[in-house]
Amino acid sequence: MLSRHIDETSWIEWIKGLLAVPFVLHSQPTAVFEPKGESVDATATRTQRRYAEIMRDVEDIVNDHINHQQVGTQNRSKLKLLVPSVANFFTPLALHDAFIWQDHRRFISMRRFVPPSFNDVRIILNTAQVMSIVRNGPLDLITFDGDVTLYDDGQCLTPDNPVIPRILTLMRNGSKIGIVTAAGYTEAHKYYERLYGLLDAIYASDLPQAAKQGLIVMGGESNYCFRFDGGVPDMLALVPKQEWLLKEMVLWEEADITALLDIAEASLRDTVKNMRMEATVVRKERAVGIIPRPGHKFCRETLEETVLIAQKILEMSEVGTRLPFCAFNGGNDVFVDIGDKSWGVLACQQFFGGIEGNKTLHVGDQFLSAGANDFKARLACTTAWIANPAETVGLLDEIAELEEVQARKLR
Ligand code: IMP
Ligand code: MG
Repeated sequence: MLSRHIDETSWIEWIKGLLAVPFVLHSQPTAVFEPKGESVDATATRTQRRYAEIMRDVEDIVNDHINHQQVGTQNRSKLKLLVPSVANFFTPLALHDAFIWQDHRRFISMRRFVPPSFNDVRIILNTAQVMSIVRNGPLDLITFDGDVTLYDDGQCLTPDNPVIPRILTLMRNGSKIGIVTAAGYTEAHKYYERLYGLLDAIYASDLPQAAKQGLIVMGGESNYCFRFDGGVPDMLALVPKQEWLLKEMVLWEEADITALLDIAEASLRDTVKNMRMEATVVRKERAVGIIPRPGHKFCRETLEETVLIAQKILEMSEVGTRLPFCAFNGGNDVFVDIGDKSWGVLACQQFFGGIEGNKTLHVGDQFLSAGANDFKARLACTTAWIANPAETVGLLDEIAELEEVQARKLR
């Protein structure tokens, strides 16, 4: 696929490739039909040791990259030579310990036929990231994407969602919460409709008022900010722009915004025509997108093609060099938004008094290189890449468990 973006994929594939070597050399598939010889446990222990050593080495390579970052020479680090698309790191990664932790849950070293997979590595990286943050804590801010991260695509955060008590616990422990979603609406009511399960639960909880105010919603990637105020009917109040815009964002001119959206709209219309898509064009104040006509489903390839054409045309345009934008595939729609989630997360950090990237975690589902929007958050903070809302719940449980371990250590 043609795409110039930095992305998480090559980094994960690279680690997966390193783990393939001990898998090939040490897993014993023939033991399934030739039971004589070393026991399953002994093989697994040996394989685990090899995997863990590799993860320790990768951890060291990341630390070396961080040392380079600190003096501005990250482009000359060994990691940059090995994985040119790698981004900067906000914290070290506890890869060795995270591997052992996940191996106890996923039995990676026990496997004889299935090597460490992309998903294994993605999940180990998430654990390594949260381990690092919790150990050097506290986790001051956690930002969540909406669709696929907190609830299923296009659905709402209903009162039965298991993520709700976990988010309340985070708030009780002092973490601020930002919901950084591409969904862009100007009215609080629309966000209340999508998020009511969580908002009502915060309202009804016995959290102190100050903790309740630790939740904001950043909509349209980085265009609309609402804070929890517990007022009826919508629980959310629009925050005036002067209270949350970053100083660079103040310079974004209306004429440029219109010009960029005009170019994006023309590109989308063109692709819809050429690819015979059953789509409706939606133009908003800060976004333009295509959504399917009722009953239609677009295939992934068509969606990605649409994104990449729009992205390329915008990158080549004059206004596209002045104004940040984000073109992405939303599963069954394509949107081009003004700004992106890196701006959204940075604005949350500023709103809560200047929280740093190494104390912030963004949880999202879109980190693939072509047409994804969460990976932009990687420029502003640490990230966790989840595949569905159940994994988000699992990750929050992991954070709680790790915090418990950490608290015991400090006692
Ligand atoms: P997210 O996963 O929370 O970032 O939400 C992305 C989804 O929000 C997209 O796939 C769209 O279906 C929906 N959406 C609604 N309005 C907008 C908009 O203005 N820009 C981008 N996405 C939007
Ligand atoms: Mg999403």
